[in-house]
Amino acid sequence: MDAIRTEDLTKHYRVGFWRPRPYIALDRLSLTVRTGEVFGFLGPNGAGKTTTLKLLMQLMYPSSGRAEILGRPVGDVEVRRRIGYLPENPYFYDYLTAEELLEYFAGLFGYPAAERRRRAASLLDTVGIGAERRLQLRKFSKGMIQRVGIAQALINDPDVVFFDEPMSGLDPLGRREIRQLILQLRDRGCTVFFSSHVLADAEALCSRVAIVAAGRLVASGQLSELLAFQVRGWELVMSGVTPDALSQARADREIVNAVPIDGQRFAMELPASAAPERVLATLTASGAQLVSLTPIRETLEDFFMRQVTGAQRSSNG
Ligand SMILES: Nc1ncnc2c1ncn2[C@@H]1O[C@H](COP(=O)(O)OP(=O)(O)O)[C@@H](O)[C@H]1O
Ligand SMILES: [Mg+2]
Repeated sequence: MDAIRTEDLTKHYRVGFWRPRPYIALDRLSLTVRTGEVFGFLGPNGAGKTTTLKLLMQLMYPSSGRAEILGRPVGDVEVRRRIGYLPENPYFYDYLTAEELLEYFAGLFGYPAAERRRRAASLLDTVGIGAERRLQLRKFSKGMIQRVGIAQALINDPDVVFFDEPMSGLDPLGRREIRQLILQLRDRGCTVFFSSHVLADAEALCSRVAIVAAGRLVASGQLSELLAFQVRGWELVMSGVTPDALSQARADREIVNAVPIDGQRFAMELPASAAPERVLATLTASGAQLVSLTPIRETLEDFFMRQVTGAQRSSNG
């Protein structure tokens, strides 16, 4: 059984006051998420990600099409018990402490008092909220609220979780912790469906992705199979690079560009055809030290820009 299935899921909003007209926020989205996978739902702002998640949570109804979770129509009571949801920019009643809020949510699932406390405490540990759990939420930063939101989504040990932009508002360390948490959830057999406008979040986590732009599915599959995101080269930063080593690497066409940063520290661009391991080994042998090595590839934004201009071109021509 699949964890999530949508079939031609479509949502029109009515916009405009004097002459309301439909605006297609989601246009016949069909996708399948298998049980146990971490699935990235990617797209730039305004693509229709939050709309899709709200339809899956039955916070609103589709204009047409349908959606199923764990083999049943969305909204099914049995299904609701088995899912968790982190809304985009969660907002909670902020005179409660984190602990009180989580115990309250545990109460909604009918757990007895001792179990409510146990669940709240253990989830706050999991998301890295320590003594602050006794503070009212109005004293929390955006990143901390985001963590409370994630804990809230997990209060019932869900089989499928829906996270809308789970990394937003988090610093790099926080992002890494949330990534690790998502992988732990997967290891426990939980299916994770999350939206993001950041490609790197998906690369670190997902088995498969779907990419939406302007309400339409534009690509789906394994990230490594999506041609658009193949590596186009590498940026290699090293210190202690000697002029000799640099000109040799240039002569061997292993680097196409080298920008001095300071002293003997250089940012070098390697073509996609270069083997970064070999270039790195050669330069290291000449006495240079690695600072960083980063793949160069299209960002989601570049990808969409290309899609949009391509579509305009084909409709004009
Ligand atoms: N309640 C609404 N009424 C009218 N338009 C909306 C409403 N909610 C979202 N939209 C529009 O629908 C599109 C998709 O929005 P959304 O699903 O929030 O995208 P994303 O989460 O990918 O950024 C956007 O153009 C947005 O402005
Ligand atoms: Mg959104």
